[in-house]
Amino acid sequence: MTPFNLGKLPRIYFGPGKLAELPRLMAESAKSALIITGASSFYGSEKWKKLTDELTSRGITHFHVSVKGEPSPDMVDDIAGQYRGKKPGLVIAIGGGSVMDAGKAVSAMLPKNETVKHYLEGFQGAGVHDGVKTPFIAIPTTSGTGSEAAKNAVLSRVGPDGYKRSIRHDNFVPDISIVDPELMLSCLPSVTAACGMDAFVQLLESFVSTNASQLSDALALSGLEQVRDSLVTAYRDGNNLAARTGMAYAALMSGITLSHAGLGVVHGFASVLGGFFAIPHGVICGTLIGAATWTNIRYLKELGEGNPFLEKYARTGALLARREYTPENRDDHLDFLVRQLDEWTETFRMPRLGAFGVGFQDINRIIQHTGDKNNPVKLDKDGIKEILTASI
Ligand SMILES: [Fe+2]
Repeated sequence: MTPFNLGKLPRIYFGPGKLAELPRLMAESAKSALIITGASSFYGSEKWKKLTDELTSRGITHFHVSVKGEPSPDMVDDIAGQYRGKKPGLVIAIGGGSVMDAGKAVSAMLPKNETVKHYLEGFQGAGVHDGVKTPFIAIPTTSGTGSEAAKNAVLSRVGPDGYKRSIRHDNFVPDISIVDPELMLSCLPSVTAACGMDAFVQLLESFVSTNASQLSDALALSGLEQVRDSLVTAYRDGNNLAARTGMAYAALMSGITLSHAGLGVVHGFASVLGGFFAIPHGVICGTLIGAATWTNIRYLKELGEGNPFLEKYARTGALLARREYTPENRDDHLDFLVRQLDEWTETFRMPRLGAFGVGFQDINRIIQHTGDKNNPVKLDKDGIKEILTASI
C-alpha cells in the first residue's frame, strides 16, 4: 500500500434540509457574520428570508455581499477592505464554486492588510500565508468544484495576460461545510452538466493521479458511482432530489480527493484556458476530458503491458458500465469509458472551446503554459497539442 497523509477536513453536514443547522452553528461561534452569496439564486429566495429572520431572532448581526462571476484578486481585496474594520466573527459563502472561493479567500484576507496577490501561488515574490483566517463556512448550491472540502481558492483575471491562480493553506479548508441538496434543485441543466463534469473529471483525475492512495481511491470510486447513477437524471430532471443528492456527494468527494491526490492534464489546461478566455471551468473540463482520456490511454498503452494506471482507467470503464472488472476484458472496459465520455458530451450538448473564441492560432500560446500536474503519464507537447486540437 502507498503511504499517504490524511489532511484537514471540514465538519461536514450532508443531506436534504441540513441548511436548517446553520443558525445554530453560527450562534455557537460568532455574534456577527459576513455572508457572501451569488447574485440571484439563493439571495432573495424564501430560504434567505427564513435564514436572516432566524439570525435576527438569535441576535446575530449579518453583513451581506453578493458577487457575480469568478472571483478576481480585486474583488477579494475590495470585500476584505470593506469589512475588515467590522471584524465579522465568521465568513459564510452560499453559492457555486466561484462564491465559495470568493468567501474562502476573503476569510483568509480579513486578518491581513496587504493585497491577496501577495499570497497567490506562482506570483513573483509571493509570500507564504500563515493560515490565520476568519472562521469560514461553505454552503454549495451547485455540485461541481468541491471547494466545500478543498484547501484552495482559485482567483482569476481573464485576458491576454490573464491567469488563474490559487491561494492555498491547510487551514483554508472550510471549518464547516453544509451540503444540502435541496439548494441545488433550482440549478439550470447547463450548469448542472458543466458542474457535474467538473466533479467527474476531478474524481477521475485524482483516481488515476500519480499521487493517489488507497484512501483517495476509495473516496473517488464512491463518487464516480454516484456520478454514474445521478448525473444524467439530475440534468434531465432537476427536481429529482435523489439525483441531486448523489451529485452533491460526488462533488464533495471530489473536493477531498483533489486535495489529497491532485489532478491531471485537464486541470492543467483549465488553469491556462480559464485565464485567457471567459470559459466556465466545468465546460473546459467536460469538453477536454474525452480527448484527454483517449490520449492518456494511448500513451499508457505505449508504455507496455501491466501498467497500473491503464488498469485504473479500465476499472472506471467497468464501473460506469456496471460490469465486474476482469483483466482479460480490459480493452472492452477502456472502450466503454471513451464511448461513455463521448455520449455525455453529446447528451449535455457541451460547447466546444471554439464557441468561446479559442482558435487554432492560440494553440502554441496555450500549450506553452500547460502543465500536466499529476497526470498518469508524462505527455509531450504533441500529446498536449492533440488533446487541445481535438477540443476546439
Ligand atoms: Fe475542477
